[in-house]
Amino acid sequence: MPETINAAVIGLGILGSQHADLLHKRPEVSLTAVADLRRDVAEEVGARLGAAPYTDFREMLRAHRVDLVVVATPDPLHRDPTVAAIEAGVPNIVQEKPLATTWEDAQAIFEAAEKHGARLFVNYANRATPLDISTRYVVQNDLLGRVVYGESRLDDNISVPTSMWGDRTKEWAAGSSTVHFLLPHVVDLLRFYFSPAEVREVFAISQQEVLGYTPDVYDAFLTFDTGMKVRVKAEWIKHIDELVEFYMCFSGAEGTLIYNKRGGFGTAPGWRANVSRSIDEKTLIGHQSALLALGSNVAALLHRPAPSTGTLKAGGGDLVPALEFRGLGYGEFMAMPDHFVDAILQDTLEPTCWQGLGPLPTHIDGLRQTQITAAIVRSAETGQPITLE
Ligand SMILES: NC(=O)c1ccc[n+]([C@@H]2O[C@H](COP(=O)([O-])OP(=O)(O)OC[C@H]3O[C@@H](n4cnc5c(N)ncnc54)[C@H](O)[C@@H]3O)[C@@H](O)[C@H]2O)c1
Repeated sequence: MPETINAAVIGLGILGSQHADLLHKRPEVSLTAVADLRRDVAEEVGARLGAAPYTDFREMLRAHRVDLVVVATPDPLHRDPTVAAIEAGVPNIVQEKPLATTWEDAQAIFEAAEKHGARLFVNYANRATPLDISTRYVVQNDLLGRVVYGESRLDDNISVPTSMWGDRTKEWAAGSSTVHFLLPHVVDLLRFYFSPAEVREVFAISQQEVLGYTPDVYDAFLTFDTGMKVRVKAEWIKHIDELVEFYMCFSGAEGTLIYNKRGGFGTAPGWRANVSRSIDEKTLIGHQSALLALGSNVAALLHRPAPSTGTLKAGGGDLVPALEFRGLGYGEFMAMPDHFVDAILQDTLEPTCWQGLGPLPTHIDGLRQTQITAAIVRSAETGQPITLE
């Protein structure tokens, strides 16, 4: 186990500067060097955090022998710095999502990591949110019965592709899309919740009417090897009050989970699983305690739903057990990179802070994610469903 991790960051924009700050804060990490094409940015971050600044990441890799490199360049620009760091002998990489925007880039990164035995973590940040961990818990413990259908919408405010990166925004958004910027989170979460299920078929549409330089929306149906179908939609032309709107719903044979992660407006965030009626009171309380241990202080409810609209009423009436969380459930935004540092210190893919949740996401998950997101792009282009190996 290394006592001190010597680290460097490549790409010091919105995310990379947060990675640099996080590494600087950890007492076990020495932030040695930082690189950004923009000299003023590299020098500002370097001076603030006591790291040597570079504009050329290859020169930085030649000058410093480090244990960890974080790569946080824009979406289509992950391959070169990640592969260069691996080939320079860096044993640990933390790379921002998506693993890549093309299947070719993803394969090149994957092969480099395999060939050199590098540990490569991908920052699928949502995995660390207590309510996402709780969603996985509900699914993995079969509290909904067999899940057959799901839907997700992860949408951005239109200000993201029109102004979030200042003067660079149009070029940034044109080099990416909602498939590469937003859907990697959703695709990865589905694989996390429903592990070991994998996507076998993809059918997608897209539309480009408003922005012009990048598609406005991708809307895809994913069919899993369990037979489950999940609709995943992501647009970035929404005129909403929030930066992000994120909603998910899963229907099982015996229960339904609705996860309103971030409302656009008018909708309170919250998380509720109406679980199988076969679950008795004592077992329900046991699940509540288990979720508390995972970081979600949920209420255990036995309630009597009475579905009605105006004068219309449907069945219901029986007591239904449920687990519910009200309020914001974002969690800590940089929690995942913190787990990666612990994993490196403990020389494992499943550090003590991540026990019971499987290995932290690696290049293997990244390859799968890119296979799915690349298939979404291809399906939308060709109008054909794509079968995945
Ligand atoms: N995990 C998450 O939740 C999350 C959230 C937002 C963004 N991201 C991802 O983080 C990545 C970075 O996004 P961002 O918003 O910080 O972008 P950004 O444009 O703000 O930052 C990227 C930085 O990389 C620099 N850069 C580009 N090419 C370079 C090179 N060859 N060498 C050195 N520096 C280079 C740019 O100058 C810029 O400063 C993206 O892949 C994005 O999808 C992840």
